[in-house]
Amino acid sequence: MKVRKAVITAAGWGTRFLPITRSQPKEMLPVVNKPLIQYSVEEAINSGIEQIIVITALGKRAIEDYFDRSFELEYFLEQKRETKLLQEMRELSSLIDVCYIRQKEQLGLGHAILTAKNFVADEPFAVLLPDDLIDSRVPALKQMVEVYEQYGTSVIAIKRVSSQNTVKYGIIEPKRVSAKIYQVLGLTEKPKPQEAPSNLGVVGRYILMPQIFDVLEVTPPGKNQEIQLTDALQLLLQQQTIYAYEFDGVRYDAGTPLGWLEATIAFALKQPDIGRELREYLRQLL
Ligand code: G1P
Repeated sequence: MKVRKAVITAAGWGTRFLPITRSQPKEMLPVVNKPLIQYSVEEAINSGIEQIIVITALGKRAIEDYFDRSFELEYFLEQKRETKLLQEMRELSSLIDVCYIRQKEQLGLGHAILTAKNFVADEPFAVLLPDDLIDSRVPALKQMVEVYEQYGTSVIAIKRVSSQNTVKYGIIEPKRVSAKIYQVLGLTEKPKPQEAPSNLGVVGRYILMPQIFDVLEVTPPGKNQEIQLTDALQLLLQQQTIYAYEFDGVRYDAGTPLGWLEATIAFALKQPDIGRELREYLRQLL
């Protein structure tokens, strides 16, 4: 069955980016001139996704406004004869149908995904975490859809992480299947280096079979007292095979100040209008 729906989670507090996230959703932080969440929406569209649901929470209204139509802004741009900008703004609000669900309590990533159960119903679906920003020639999710189409079961994205960074990610216990594909034998959320089953860390892109919802309903709180997707995937292994895919592309952990700065510089250097000047500026600065 085709992967048509995507869940984008945007309900977290953004504690790693305080104080800006007190009143600004982390997903609305700009990388050059687009908010993080737009990169996820574009990746989903370019991977064949037809419907998106964003899981939001209190204080995240800016996300809904962003993808909505603004007649006032369009009128203003029309009066100023800013036709190119006007066209771009109209395109942005008609990108794709986006719906929203509010997670009433922030009980973890697994709980956030569970709120999308009725929207997704009985089909495989994608999950994107906007603070994992991926720069790749072929969208990372599209690469994963191809792996899903080959195996017909859940697929999670992975990248190698250094041993001091295992504490930041879900880590898989792998069994190699081919150069970039592993069968997942087990998963641990944010283990200490000495407890990590490998150095293959989960990146925020998943294709999940709908059975994950029944599992999430019975997954007890885990690390940090949150209902962890990682724990639910570990339970899902009792009923189905899960594959992990080391995608082609660079991942930026844009939910932290350093990762966000790296992403901003890397993306800005590629922009035709500012890239050359920025490179020159950086050269002088360093
Ligand atoms: C979540 C997941 C973790 C995964 C990570 C990817 O953690 O729980 O398994 O490796 O996303 O970014 P978070 O970053 O929300 O703490």
